[in-house]
Amino acid sequence: MPAFTHHIFICTNQRSSENPRGCCDCEGTGKLRAAFKAGLKERQLGPLVRANQAGCLEQCEHGPTIAIYPQGIFYGGVTPADVPRILDETVIGGKILDDLLIDEQCLNNPNCEHIRRQQSCG
Ligand code: FES
Ligand SMILES: [Zn+2]
Repeated sequence: MPAFTHHIFICTNQRSSENPRGCCDCEGTGKLRAAFKAGLKERQLGPLVRANQAGCLEQCEHGPTIAIYPQGIFYGGVTPADVPRILDETVIGGKILDDLLIDEQCLNNPNCEHIRRQQSCG
């Protein structure tokens, strides 16, 4: 079997509305993951491209967050409306979408200016 070309991890973590870090799928709708799954099917990108539900990717303040591996691309503020161009331009075309890319200065930086409270995700 050939290796996967892209594994798209979609954070579907939920937290209470009081949590200052927010969360990527607070209402638990799963609609972002559903949009990816539908988009993959439409483009017949399976089985080499997969869209997987993920827990917290530790980029909560920049969410809703997705990670694309093995390319190591992290996108933030992703909505279902962004899914077609992520699939067409990034997955198929290999292009990074600068407006969605989480800044290098933010990624895994505990001192990122956007972090609302320093705690590990739960
Ligand atoms: S809740 Fe989605 S990255 Fe933390
Ligand atoms: Zn940041």
